[in-house]
Amino acid sequence: LKLAFIGCGAIARFHLDGIKGHVPRVDVTTLVDIDGSKAQAYAKETGGRAFTSLGDALAEGDFDAVDILLPHDLHEASAIQCLEAGKHVLLEKPIAPTLDACDRIFQVAAQSGCVFMVAENSQYWPEILEAKKHIDAGTIGDIITARAAFIYPFDEYWFKEARPWRFESGRTGGGITIDGGSHWIRPLRMWMGEVKEAVGVLDHPLRQMEGESLTRALLRFESGKTAIFDAMMIDTTFAPDPWWRV
Ligand SMILES: NC(=O)c1ccc[n+]([C@@H]2O[C@H](COP(=O)([O-])OP(=O)(O)OC[C@H]3O[C@@H](n4cnc5c(N)ncnc54)[C@H](O)[C@@H]3O)[C@@H](O)[C@H]2O)c1
Repeated sequence: LKLAFIGCGAIARFHLDGIKGHVPRVDVTTLVDIDGSKAQAYAKETGGRAFTSLGDALAEGDFDAVDILLPHDLHEASAIQCLEAGKHVLLEKPIAPTLDACDRIFQVAAQSGCVFMVAENSQYWPEILEAKKHIDAGTIGDIITARAAFIYPFDEYWFKEARPWRFESGRTGGGITIDGGSHWIRPLRMWMGEVKEAVGVLDHPLRQMEGESLTRALLRFESGKTAIFDAMMIDTTFAPDPWWRV
């Protein structure tokens, strides 16, 4: 499979290492980034060809599928552009900043005849699958409630630009809940079923971030069971706090 990376930023490193380590049948032939130096660096590493625009890559590149690794506000346009060009699409989470934008992507994907997949990785984490196995088999009894806590120290690795897009809610679609928090919400849904109701409060302890950097939410699932979803990002020391309790 010939693959194009659309976006060669922070998460691209993890995708490329994963491919190099585990997926020999994937050949990264095309690297796109508006910052040409980033695309060039990955092109050197992979032997692929660098582009500074998706349009140019679609016109001239040699690839069957794309791995979209862009800021959230660019997901919809780039995913639709690639699907309409007949490329299979792996799209980083979150799908898009709004539900309407997600629906528009799904509609084009359904009509495209291409494979469309969201790169939500927490659903494959071994501890998540192990917990699901025991929940489904009933070996830990009836589930009463659960807690997911995305309590994460601020890490500059994800905030490298002079004005990081992650600080702008117009670009992310919110704050930490739609970003890293999505990896904690997905397992709750795998274990507990679909969320029916959510209430919560938001706050902004990480002052540079326009969107929320603190979320405390109560979820009720279609089953009637409840869970807590906590999320916080701030530049300070945390006491140990488990990521999960079921
Ligand atoms: N699954 C995970 O665990 C995980 C972790 C981190 C990030 N992500 C997701 O990956 C995506 C990218 O995040 P990131 O941390 O790599 O961001 P990043 O800012 O480090 O990388 C984005 C890259 O896109 C490039 N870019 C911006 N506009 C562009 C355009 N118009 N055309 C081409 N390139 C353009 C930027 O120059 C940058 O190199 C986001 O959806 C994020 O939520 C997922």
